[in-house]
Amino acid sequence: MTVELDETRVAAARRVFAEEPRVEVVHGDSFDELAQRAPFDLLFADGGSQPAAIVDLLRIGGRLVNDDVTPVNLLPADSPYREHDPKRELFFGDPRLVAAEAVLPDLHNSLLVGTRVR
Ligand SMILES: C[S@@+](CC[C@H](N)C(=O)[O-])C[C@H]1O[C@@H](n2cnc3c(N)ncnc32)[C@H](O)[C@@H]1O
Repeated sequence: MTVELDETRVAAARRVFAEEPRVEVVHGDSFDELAQRAPFDLLFADGGSQPAAIVDLLRIGGRLVNDDVTPVNLLPADSPYREHDPKRELFFGDPRLVAAEAVLPDLHNSLLVGTRVR
């Protein structure tokens, strides 16, 4: 399933998956909608920084993935993310997650992957 707030994007996603009965496209707030269906084996969080409560929605052994993360060495010297980076703080700071950062082959984007271990 995928959850999206924006109606135009919901309609576009429904068109893309019209022939795929395994994919449910839900219009609404991800936390409200996902909480009703938890726990999950995989959550791909594509809507920006996530609160720690997203980890509650994972099964033990389940994975949280976040894309479009700028590798630290590409952050400008004065970037506020050097001091306070909500995405990395969740993945590497939440004691329930064991996490890794994978820099993609373009060297300009990272993926954060966290496995819920407790
Ligand atoms: C980076 S865009 C990704 C859009 C799409 N998944 C894609 O890959 O093309 C982030 C999307 O998250 C949606 N979004 C932000 N907060 C949300 C929330 N709380 N619940 C559901 N969708 C949300 C935005 O409307 C936006 O379309």
